[in-house]
Amino acid sequence: MTQNIKISPSILSADFSNLGEEIKRLDKAGADLIHIDVMDGHFVPNITFGPVIIKQIRKYTKLPFDVHLMISPVEKYIKDFSDAGADIITVHPEATDDLKKTVDKIKSFGKKAGVSLNPKTSITALLNVIDKIDLILIMSVNPGFAGQSFISDVLPKVKELRKIINDKKLNIDLEIDGGINFETGALALKAGANILVSGTTLFSGGSLQENINKLRNCG
Ligand code: DX5
Ligand code: ZN
Repeated sequence: MTQNIKISPSILSADFSNLGEEIKRLDKAGADLIHIDVMDGHFVPNITFGPVIIKQIRKYTKLPFDVHLMISPVEKYIKDFSDAGADIITVHPEATDDLKKTVDKIKSFGKKAGVSLNPKTSITALLNVIDKIDLILIMSVNPGFAGQSFISDVLPKVKELRKIINDKKLNIDLEIDGGINFETGALALKAGANILVSGTTLFSGGSLQENINKLRNCG
């Protein structure tokens, strides 16, 4: 079991007509980060929002913005997301011709760099940048939509990465995203994840604070 579990609520399930208030609500409810899913209708079959919206919601909280870019090609937009107020910028290896260069670019703006692995993408896709990155985001659904079912086949990958991170004493957060609820969250924590992303479960009704607490303690 990993200590220091963090919860990163995905605003994909929030009320888009009232995003500022939703961010404030998450802050008050005890979120550790705000997970922001950026989709382009090309890398994934859905469109959400871009830097303009992120810049607008930036003023509602001081919590770190955990920006998950599902856009391709990604390099040319890194600066825009950095300027908009992202703190962590996570990219998919498939969305760039040169992952190392993209990671360097993120770091050059003083931001934390993350790499996300789709359910079918193997760990080898990020091994050449593992010494440079701050976060690994394991997708436990195929990216594109909230409300999908957790793919438990990714758990061995989480376990393996936790071992690599610990063995090499790397300062990398291991985050998991997609289909996380109180049961699958427990499985992910047991496998070694230390940040849980959740949209549907946290926003499914009841108190946000209770849901966040329950998820933090589900392991
Ligand atoms: C999927 C997104 C996830 C998603 C999580 O492409 O990256 O962040 O919103 O939503 P739930 O918790 O509903 O699976
Ligand atoms: Zn995400």
